[in-house]
Amino acid sequence: MIPNGFRIGAIPVNSPLILAPMAGISHLPFRRLVRKYGAPGMVFTEMLSARALPGENFNWPSYGQCDEGEHPISYQVFTSDPEEAEIATRKLCEGPADIVDLNLACPAPEIAKKRKAGAHLLNDLAMVSKILQAMKAVATVPVTVKIRLGKKADRGFLGELAGVLIENKIDAVTIHPRLTGEKLKRVPRWQYIGYMTELMKVPVIGNGDVKTRDDCLRMFSETGCDGVMIGRAAVQKPWIFSSIAGNSPEITSEFLLRVYIEAIRLFSGYFKETVFLGRIKEFTWYFSRNMKFGHHFASLVQNANSLADIDAIAEKNFEGSC
Ligand SMILES: Cc1cc2nc3c(=O)[nH]c(=O)nc-3n(C[C@H](O)[C@H](O)[C@H](O)COP(=O)(O)O)c2cc1C
Repeated sequence: MIPNGFRIGAIPVNSPLILAPMAGISHLPFRRLVRKYGAPGMVFTEMLSARALPGENFNWPSYGQCDEGEHPISYQVFTSDPEEAEIATRKLCEGPADIVDLNLACPAPEIAKKRKAGAHLLNDLAMVSKILQAMKAVATVPVTVKIRLGKKADRGFLGELAGVLIENKIDAVTIHPRLTGEKLKRVPRWQYIGYMTELMKVPVIGNGDVKTRDDCLRMFSETGCDGVMIGRAAVQKPWIFSSIAGNSPEITSEFLLRVYIEAIRLFSGYFKETVFLGRIKEFTWYFSRNMKFGHHFASLVQNANSLADIDAIAEKNFEGSC
């Protein structure tokens, strides 16, 4: 059985299945697609630069906007600077954020090396503490973090990190139990999700390689986590939240085409064409894994130069695709 929801601070999360933050993917039209085919208990935005936020028009597409029906929504920021964190948190709390999440998980060089943010901060727990203090001092909504394991799998280090989170009254923790430098192909160490649930009194959300209802049930039972976060599998199967809840759609070529056309319609209705092309290409790498000749399909889409091209490729290539 999928457990009931939980609360993050005062915010009720009615289903414990959560859509992951994914840069370039977890934008509003993608979240609309996921919500059309399923019902995650909570969604995250893609990570936002705390430095850039004050200067942004909050309604600029991939940043601020969310739909009325998609609460609770967690806005994730990355930063390595307490002052930036404070200003960004204030701004997000004035907007539609139900939760503000600090990214302590991203290993990408642009974030970790260049900006000394994301997973890089796990090397400096004193700085993590300063940033969280700054966020908590001004936040009018719960503040959460998403972590990786750090440089090595080490219970002592996780204990120290949990101490910093508890001291700063963090309201929930998502743990993606890979080391900082590990690729997403490596097997995540779910036992550390379990360890985090022992350390923390607030909700712990487990993440990593949940692709099916069985994976999800196993993560709940093996780790005792409160919530399960799903990333890549939700891009491949935007209906996964329904499937896990026990209402799997029948996967036919016609169904796949319908979902893909819906993605085109949602993305192109929201982004200007150049941005649309990038977003649909990224989405297609994952979605095409549902198809027999998915790699061929994804390659055709990567070479497309317009919405009309993508439409034509979709119309021609789904027949007999599963
Ligand atoms: C394309 C892509 C972009 C991602 N961007 C973010 C991000 O902005 N913030 C974050 O915390 N994690 C990010 N992640 C990591 C995911 O949130 C998640 O932790 C990871 O994909 C493992 O979960 P999964 O096995 O369910 O995909 C990203 C992952 C992918 C594949």
